[in-house]
Amino acid sequence: MSKTRTAYICQNCGASAPKWIGKCPSCNEWNTYVEEIITKEPSNPSVSTRVSNSSPKRFSEISSQAETRIDLHSDELNRVLGGGLIPGSMVLIGGEPGIGKSTLVLQIALKNPDITTLYISGEESLSQIRLRAERMGINGDQCLLLNETSLENTMYHISSTNPGLVIVDSIQTMYTDRIESSPGSVGQVRECTAELLRYAKQSSVPVILIGHINKEGNLAGPKVLEHIVDTVLQFEGDQNYMYRILRAVKNRFGSTSEIGIFEMQSKGLREVTNPSELLLAHHDENLSGTAVAATIEGIRPFLVEVQALVSSAVYGTPQRSSTGFDLRRLSMLLAVLEKRAGFRLGSKDVFLNIAGGLKINDPAVDLSVICSILSSEQDIAVDKNVCFSGEVGLTGEIRPVSRIEQRIAEAEKLGFKEIVISKYNKKGLDFSRFKIGISYAGKVADLVKLLF
Ligand code: TYD
Ligand code: MG
Repeated sequence: MSKTRTAYICQNCGASAPKWIGKCPSCNEWNTYVEEIITKEPSNPSVSTRVSNSSPKRFSEISSQAETRIDLHSDELNRVLGGGLIPGSMVLIGGEPGIGKSTLVLQIALKNPDITTLYISGEESLSQIRLRAERMGINGDQCLLLNETSLENTMYHISSTNPGLVIVDSIQTMYTDRIESSPGSVGQVRECTAELLRYAKQSSVPVILIGHINKEGNLAGPKVLEHIVDTVLQFEGDQNYMYRILRAVKNRFGSTSEIGIFEMQSKGLREVTNPSELLLAHHDENLSGTAVAATIEGIRPFLVEVQALVSSAVYGTPQRSSTGFDLRRLSMLLAVLEKRAGFRLGSKDVFLNIAGGLKINDPAVDLSVICSILSSEQDIAVDKNVCFSGEVGLTGEIRPVSRIEQRIAEAEKLGFKEIVISKYNKKGLDFSRFKIGISYAGKVADLVKLLF
């Protein structure tokens, strides 16, 4: 008689433990352990003596096939994927609810008449999807729709229809009978993904998965999922704005510094080919007290506006307040400005704000913090087509920052004309491929000359 075996699985990282624990020792998250039933598959004794048909090879013996990529008829999507979809690859698209993931994949399915797509939805009914497609005004008859949540049934339909692309919306609704835990749990998600991956690799059919995002903003449940798939794309944006950004968080077949920008319209997602409209739409004129920083969060570069207000102190002790930026670091930068550049800020109130409610820890923001403070203090606007990336040291030197090429590429992508970086970032790198102007500053005093 088979005994039911259970284990406690961390819903954040997939670690397992024999009993419930409050804090996961592997990812340090609290209260993430959930009991899951594991029915072990009967082990096959013949497996241990498996004869492998693969053998080690020398580099010269490996034939390098010319990479064929599937054109998805969308410049933004192709770019984020690194030039198109690789046959047999598995792409995970994550994002908050309502951000437009289903719309994005439906558009992929309908706008590529040369690819037979099997769109498996466990979230919406077929008539709902049809209504949406009608609203978007596209009608692709090469797209097959399936409303299914069972992995076994799905695999049956995949093999009977033989599609050129498989889309699963979403992986959290899929379940397999082999595991008894509920759909969406780490075990189910991992098992379903592994099965679909096996299919993708064997058949060379690309698979696109949609993944939910949890309240912390990570792909829901398992980090393990990100390790299994080839490409992880994050679809993000503010619900209050119509812009959506698709970022490659991980890509085995391309760079992760590319982003695709879309606008959610009443007729679906429109590609934004001139991305500078994203940032520049907010102000038409140059305003004093703002400077844009090219920053990196994790492995993702993005541009963020730093705003400062410097005014004469009303009370005896000047106020220093900062939102989204470390207050002690602000005090340090003010001291540097006072000591190394001769600005008398000791009797001024200084307020600093990172626009959009972001919290930034990247030291490369220092340069734009200083620029916004000086700009507000002098009441001279910084050119809105210029952005900054550099760390400021105690001696007033502008220090090099990591991944400068990604930052420059992002600034160029977003339509900036010039970026100011540390002159020490020049070493060993070739910036000639960039069209954006690059200015170098070595000290805070240089920056003052460059700006005003
Ligand atoms: P959806 O793709 O369902 O989001 P997700 O799958 O990520 O949860 O998109 C839902 C939102 O998009 C919904 O709030 C309405 C909006 N939307 C439009 O504005 N225009 C459109 O043409 C479509 C299809 C959706
Ligand atoms: Mg959806």
